[in-house]
Amino acid sequence: MKQTTLIYKMIMATTGLFLCFFLVIHLLGNLQLLLPEAEAREQFNWYSHLLSGNIIITIISYVLYLSLIGHAIYALLITRKNRKANGTKYNYDKRGEVSTWNSRNMGILGTIILLFLIIHLKDYWYLFKFGSLPLDLKGNKDLYQIVVSSFQQGWYVIIYEISFLALGFHLLHGFFSATRTVGLYHPKYAKALRVFGWIYSVALSLGFMLIPFYIYFNLNS
Ligand code: HEM
Repeated sequence: MKQTTLIYKMIMATTGLFLCFFLVIHLLGNLQLLLPEAEAREQFNWYSHLLSGNIIITIISYVLYLSLIGHAIYALLITRKNRKANGTKYNYDKRGEVSTWNSRNMGILGTIILLFLIIHLKDYWYLFKFGSLPLDLKGNKDLYQIVVSSFQQGWYVIIYEISFLALGFHLLHGFFSATRTVGLYHPKYAKALRVFGWIYSVALSLGFMLIPFYIYFNLNS
């Protein structure tokens, strides 16, 4: 493999693994939305406020934004480079392949996730950081209300559920590919890595999928 391709793959793998870590923390924070309504509102809004005022979290957020941008840009670069070099698409490492469908469609899955992120960040992140939101009883921005109101609309739930399915398949292939690129793959641990990758990807996407469904079916007045 050429030196530059290896560097590109390394960047994809390290940013991807960092994003995998972020997703676990993000899911755990969002699971607070499943608490009884009054408690969920107070706790979710307090948690979001806490995160936005903390310098360590702010630094980690910048690493997160850079990782997201880097991951997307290098995915494009590596695809273009491989196409130019040999007329074929992204040259995935196929050892221990879980599903050829996932690997062949990483570009499409990634594009769905990118479109999801544009909608997601515009509706929640941008509004929370730069918009004027009503306050809850404790004086924190009522982000809970924004999230609940959006998932009370069926079409919004459908967009999210499709994106989380795409995320699950993307993670499944991405996880295996990344562990090999950063040298974590060893035939001795192949089975353990495979089981971990499956549990991680399925638990994460199902966990995210639960939230819009729960709100739509339980909190729709
Ligand atoms: C039901 C699922 C989800 C809910 C309810 C949710 C909710 C939120 C909310 C309320 C925010 C803005 C508040 C904040 O910045 O802390 C946010 C930010 C964000 N979300 Fe999500 N999210 C979900 C799934 C996802 C997924 C699957 C991804 C990635 C593929 C994602 C990526 C992000 C990113 C990158 C940010 C900006 C974080 C930051 O500024 O530190 N979210 N999300």
